[in-house]
Amino acid sequence: MNQQFENTTIDYLQTLKDLGVQKVEVSAETMQTLKTRNQQVSRPVKAPAEAVSANADDASKIPVSRPAVGMPHAEMGLFEEKSLNLGSAEKAAELEKLAAEINANREYRAMFKYAKNMVFGVGTPDAQIMFIGEAPGADEDAQGEPFVGRAGQLLTKMIQAMGLQRANVYIGNILKYRPDMPPGSYGNRKPTLEEITISRPYICRQVRVIQPKVLVALGNTAVEGLFKTGHAAITQRRGRWTEFLGIPLMPTYHPAYLLRNQSNSEKRKVWEDLLQVMERVGLPISEKQRRYFLMK
Ligand code: URA
Repeated sequence: MNQQFENTTIDYLQTLKDLGVQKVEVSAETMQTLKTRNQQVSRPVKAPAEAVSANADDASKIPVSRPAVGMPHAEMGLFEEKSLNLGSAEKAAELEKLAAEINANREYRAMFKYAKNMVFGVGTPDAQIMFIGEAPGADEDAQGEPFVGRAGQLLTKMIQAMGLQRANVYIGNILKYRPDMPPGSYGNRKPTLEEITISRPYICRQVRVIQPKVLVALGNTAVEGLFKTGHAAITQRRGRWTEFLGIPLMPTYHPAYLLRNQSNSEKRKVWEDLLQVMERVGLPISEKQRRYFLMK
């Protein structure tokens, strides 16, 4: 087991822990590898207790998915999260419960002194496509809904260009409150690592309940937050499938980036990523859609 894989495994187990998973099943073969490694190195493999409490005899139960490309953390996909397999009403109820839980979390709320509203998420719990951004801005904070400001309006246009409405997808953020800005100041700021770390389990749980066919991570911070990676390098990673909690994930640019860089070539890149998403979920794609933003 190389160091990177070991780190990814520990990260993944931590994610499961964040999700409230108490035990994971580990194959006999993997247990043997872990034991051998423990004997080889003076420092034992530091895995959360859940991993070692697994039943080695149930080995064969862990499905192994195909390796994903594009991101070291794609190895997270090696372990497939057991789907909760909820029906529509159950998903809606679970999301409601989660929203209430976040709302009741005083410690979390206290981190965002100036936030007016919680911004939980919007769309259908049955969504095949779930978009994930970084954090609410001033407009989202005022309305309690993600992606309603200028960047959000562009996201809505992109969704419509895919032949869908906001109500057909699910839109959420890593943070559920707007990061504090000094009163009277203008604009939004990037969430801190602490804000992301404390918020992350919530977006993981939303994903796990909704179980979309595809996730779309919007921008560097969303990718960094989901994959707990220091620098996501979205320029290199966009357009390349990876996996998050066993679900195919397409990283792409944040719509705010497109507002700053209005060139057709940048818009086309995001559109190509979305065409891949459409193909993956089996949405029909017209010739006109295929040609959007192509230079003559
Ligand atoms: N940017 C985000 O990442 N999320 C929003 O909800 C709005 C802007």
